[in-house]
Amino acid sequence: MDTVTLTDNRSGKSFDAAIKYPKGGTPAMDIADLHKEFELYSFDPSLGNTVSCESKVTHLNAKEGKLYHRGYPIEELAQEKNYLEVCYLLLTGELPDTQQYGEFDDLIRKRYFLHEKLNRLFSAFPDDSHPMSTLSSAVAALTSFYHNFIEIHGSTDFDVNEYYVMAQRIIGKIPTIAAQAYRQSVGLPSIYPDMDRYFTENFLYMLRAYPNNEPEIKDIEIKALDTIFTLHADHGQNASTTAVRVVCSTGAHPYAAISAGISALWGPKHGGANEAVINQLKAIGSVDNVEKYIRKAKDKNDPFRLMGFGHRVYKNYDPRAKILKKILEEIKTEIEIDNKLLEIAYKIEEIALSDEYFISRNLYPNVDFYSGIILTALKIPLNMFTPIFVIGRSVGWVAQWFELRSEENMKITRPRQLYMGDVNKHL
Ligand code: ACO
Repeated sequence: MDTVTLTDNRSGKSFDAAIKYPKGGTPAMDIADLHKEFELYSFDPSLGNTVSCESKVTHLNAKEGKLYHRGYPIEELAQEKNYLEVCYLLLTGELPDTQQYGEFDDLIRKRYFLHEKLNRLFSAFPDDSHPMSTLSSAVAALTSFYHNFIEIHGSTDFDVNEYYVMAQRIIGKIPTIAAQAYRQSVGLPSIYPDMDRYFTENFLYMLRAYPNNEPEIKDIEIKALDTIFTLHADHGQNASTTAVRVVCSTGAHPYAAISAGISALWGPKHGGANEAVINQLKAIGSVDNVEKYIRKAKDKNDPFRLMGFGHRVYKNYDPRAKILKKILEEIKTEIEIDNKLLEIAYKIEEIALSDEYFISRNLYPNVDFYSGIILTALKIPLNMFTPIFVIGRSVGWVAQWFELRSEENMKITRPRQLYMGDVNKHL
């Protein structure tokens, strides 16, 4: 067995940590016995060097900038499969055949609708409330509606069928909740989902429709948004997925865990970046200002960062950003694009990719850099960008939740701390 020998230079005592090899990517040394052997913990704030679980869902090849779901490259899935097929793949490990797909699609359509009492929740939120806030609250509230259907008390012999029903609910209802959250925030009349429409078309319909009015929805718009959902479907142990797993590890209800993931995703360092990118491009305002903002991004004394740039894992071009850049070129022929924003984005990328600061830190465009421009072209309101990320990612969270819950010996996640506060104080 390959090992790494760790030596405590204070005592001279050594301990061999076994090296665990993944099917792809960097191996990890197993330090589960570290405290037992040395009475030491490992210190890794923000967990950048820490492998927290074994997973079979998604693999990121950081060096080469590759992403695989259940072994399939993201480029092939984005090109050949629709979002619901990718959902099925993430949940079950296999792509569906025609019959399996038909049944799955049918079940998801049946789950589009919300309990009428949940519909009333939206009116409790003030005008202008951000749809992310309503979304995380309403998803947490699903716990009250479907409490009886999931074994929530920490047993691993829960009914697998209940898990599939939970997955269908999450996938089917989150777009409806997101659309309702938006409509409520701007005072639009409620629109019920349309079961005759495919998942992504139905979501665009719920955003655009008025009572007795048939909105125009182009096929290329459905394809572009469907690809955005696919590109966001899962991404290993990112911050929001880790939040879902942490909450899951306590044995809490799955909808509560998904709601925690939504909250974690909202931040501008994570899923909130797509909204922040557009705000930033608008603030830059013109290609003539790009150099100035690049200087700001490089200035250590300036908190300004280029939004949509950099990634904790990828040290190469984010493969999802490449696919989105291609989609931008495709949709340009049929839909009006904000060319001013696009020009600024292209200029930023051009300068950053040849600038020593960005090269030496491996800072490349990430998935959020171009997604916002596509969503703007689809006339999606800015505050719906992050909810769209949520819609795509919901299946990944469920798949990861299930993976953790299926572990024989699921343990509560409980890191340690270095206590640096006062000691031995007395009143
Ligand atoms: N603009 C300018 N400089 C940057 C940027 C950026 N966007 N990102 C990182 N850097 C610099 C840092 O200042 C740091 O420089 P230093 O070594 O001189 O101190 C170095 O690159 C490393 O940055 P860290 O913050 O330590 O990298 P980390 O892996 O922790 O952060 C993150 C990754 C959060 C994504 C970061 O790159 C960032 O804030 N990007 C902008 C926000 C964004 O686009 N988020 C979306 C990520 S993708 C997703 O969640 C879907």
